Amino acid sequence: MTHPARLLITAAAIVGLAAPALAQEVNVYSSRHYDSDDALYGEFTRETGITVNRIEAKADELIARLKAEGDNSPADVLLTVDVGRVARAVAAGVLQPFESKVIDTRIPEHLQDPDNLWFGISRRARIIFYAKERVSNPPQTYEELADPEWKGKICIRSSSNVYNQSLLASLIEVHGAARAREWAAGVVANMARPPQGGDTDQLRGLISGECDVAVANQYYFLRGFDKDIDGLSAEIDKIGWVWPNQDGRGAHINLATAAMTKSAPHPENAIKLLEFLTSDFAQHHFAHANNEYPAVPGVPNDASTERMGDFKADTSTPASALSRNAATAQAIFNEVGWN
Ligand SMILES: [Fe+2]
Repeated sequence: MTHPARLLITAAAIVGLAAPALAQEVNVYSSRHYDSDDALYGEFTRETGITVNRIEAKADELIARLKAEGDNSPADVLLTVDVGRVARAVAAGVLQPFESKVIDTRIPEHLQDPDNLWFGISRRARIIFYAKERVSNPPQTYEELADPEWKGKICIRSSSNVYNQSLLASLIEVHGAARAREWAAGVVANMARPPQGGDTDQLRGLISGECDVAVANQYYFLRGFDKDIDGLSAEIDKIGWVWPNQDGRGAHINLATAAMTKSAPHPENAIKLLEFLTSDFAQHHFAHANNEYPAVPGVPNDASTERMGDFKADTSTPASALSRNAATAQAIFNEVGWN
């Protein structure tokens, strides 16, 4: 088999392109890392001849780095998880708008930024879990988490985490800031313990008996089946789940997002990579790596998510609202003492 790189060089020579001898490349700053991502980017390189260079770090570090590097940044593409985080990149002024018919066709409008600065590449749901042994009528909506019935029963992580910020941002969008503040105060009153740990720790609390109800992104639960997670996997059958607001707007959805950086030295390659991320292949891969859901309609869910069944997702609250309401959400958390 001929090596793809050799094919590329040969083709360039035949048509007499003035292309430099250097290989085509695109530079990605990513806050996401899975071992299987190598296969994803390898496929892009195979299809386009463009090499993908990745720098992986926490989103806030990457945004700070983009800011510090300014016009000299080598980054072309920024990948983050949670719309609340890409909102920080927007606020930092490190992104540029881009147009792509492919992306507009593939990605539903409510999963795209109206200013064309980013779009969703996979969907994750933040939902309600409960201890089956102790709870027979779990809350069916996010709103019910604030009912006095659940006083001292709920485990949910700190407000410094962007996942809760985005959940509250969605409630601000639906109910307005005043009612969202009441809700946040009600959840604080219902907490089983001061917020501590990550989403996995909230699920562990259901097994240890510290909490009866917990809030977590659905993939943390599914990970408990795939891996041997201390304090979770062995007794995971004790945990039940609720897809919230199924008789109303549907479950709160957040996104992994893709964006083009303001300084992108290879904007055309960046667009090619962004479009590739909406392909069936990439959509399946990207969602599958973390037990998430594809952003492109019609791409089948991965078998790993079938365990939790079908659900109605909130498609009426645009993802951009999570970005728009992020600052208000943080202010409300501070006001109601959600640590
Ligand atoms: Fe996560």
